[in-house]
Amino acid sequence: MEDNKVLLAVALAVLLAVLSKLKSRLVAKPKLKLPPGPWTLPLIGSLHHLVTSPSIYRAMRGLSHKYGPLMMLRLGEVPTLVVSSPEAAEAITKTHDITFADRHLNATIAVLTFDGTDIVFGSYGERWRQLRKISVLELLSVARVQSFRRIREEEVARFVQSLAASAGAGAAPVNLTKMISKLINDTFVRESVGGRCKYQDEYLEAFDTAVRQTSVLTVADLFPSSRLMQVLGSAPRKALACRKRIERILEQIIQEKKEAFDSGDETAHEGLLGVLLKLQKDRSTPTPLTNDTILTIMFDMFGAGSDTSSTTLNWCMTELVRSPAAMAKAQADVREAWKGKTMITEDDLEGLSYLKLVIKEALRLHCPLPLLLPRQCRETCQVMGYDIPKGTSVFINAWAICRDPKYWDDAEEFKPERFEKNNIDYKGTNYEFLPFGSGRRMCPGANLGIANVELALASLLYHFDWKLPDGMEPKDVDVWEASGLIGKKNTGLIVHPVTRVAPAS
Ligand code: HEM
Repeated sequence: MEDNKVLLAVALAVLLAVLSKLKSRLVAKPKLKLPPGPWTLPLIGSLHHLVTSPSIYRAMRGLSHKYGPLMMLRLGEVPTLVVSSPEAAEAITKTHDITFADRHLNATIAVLTFDGTDIVFGSYGERWRQLRKISVLELLSVARVQSFRRIREEEVARFVQSLAASAGAGAAPVNLTKMISKLINDTFVRESVGGRCKYQDEYLEAFDTAVRQTSVLTVADLFPSSRLMQVLGSAPRKALACRKRIERILEQIIQEKKEAFDSGDETAHEGLLGVLLKLQKDRSTPTPLTNDTILTIMFDMFGAGSDTSSTTLNWCMTELVRSPAAMAKAQADVREAWKGKTMITEDDLEGLSYLKLVIKEALRLHCPLPLLLPRQCRETCQVMGYDIPKGTSVFINAWAICRDPKYWDDAEEFKPERFEKNNIDYKGTNYEFLPFGSGRRMCPGANLGIANVELALASLLYHFDWKLPDGMEPKDVDVWEASGLIGKKNTGLIVHPVTRVAPAS
């Protein structure tokens, strides 16, 4: 009798399952009008279209010429919208800003960003809003950026001295890319923790490895629903190991800083960490700043701020070395303004107008984040006549838009003068020029990023002439980006510095 009851229950359950399946087939879902896109293969989707080019954003640009400014791809099982015109970028970041205010979180990034509880990858909501407010008002405001000027002045002076030391006659050329990276890291670590940090090398090494795991598409990220792929994919595991190392180091730094803070050490208030600890102590934020939250914010600031700034400075120098006329003009501008000076401060940047154009033009040709950071559609919506389903991940191809000949004359050429004739700026409202993104998720760190670049660039131009190794012509300087999602230069910039104005020792 009991057995019969069980059999009956099982049969009923099977019948219900079959009926519900039939019903879902019969009740046809309204057909969505998706943006066009290239043909897909089972399992990998559109991936085969992206491997034909050295970088994903170049491949996406090629495809968008055929399929248009709103294009649908499938990366593994992830539906992905690619946005490739200023109008489409405006539709996403302004007209439908809230709908696209989430970030797409893949498996590797989820591991690194504490499951998206941070600012950079946090999903749109109260916690994110509060953290973003802290970053905008307390950490990255104009006044705060100004307060770090002494750090930048000291670090640039040190940098220039070490370059001058390697500039003697017959000296080997230097890898300027590496030196720039060190300068920005040294500066940024001081801006972050308020002083030099004994854990810096260990931290940077772990950080670099972690970022490398996120700069490519990995199997675990492409097949989020597959347990097998999560097990096979090594990137999230490697990222987790790095995150744990980074967490340990940051915890140590926070602990030491707190002890200094409690013992009345005035210098403990310096740097972004000092600001956060003060806010924690005063309990003056609506979201309590726990140690974990501080750790997350510190991790974000470094991740978002350091590589982007050094990549920008490196491209400025690369393009100037490739364009002797622009180099001569930029050097004349600085040398005229600073005539005879050996001690340089940020006050001396006032009036260096060509320098600002150089930085803008380098950002136009080489957006450090060519696809910005991926957004995610929060609700199915219509954009430019197409349906975009909830959950679609969105890449805005800022790199392609910044090089579109429809909006830029001689789009592939380095011509800083182009910005003399227009008012185009990177504040997020000129949609043909979005190196810092736009809308609610726009970069809050542009002031600090530019400040870290400006003084260093002006000093490199003022103190040194730059010669290429024997037999190399300016046009031979490589301008390819490294593969993957980040717009770094593929090879180091190798040059001879020749001292023109010796720095003060
Ligand atoms: C030249 C340097 C920099 C460039 C080119 C840059 C570029 C960007 C871009 C393209 C985004 C994504 C914007 C979007 O999705 O619309 C972003 C986001 C972000 N950046 Fe920057 N950035 C730079 C420097 C910095 C610095 C110095 C900091 C802070 C220390 C910083 C902090 C952030 C944060 C916190 C976000 C996430 C914002 C959010 O999702 O709400 N950035 N950045």
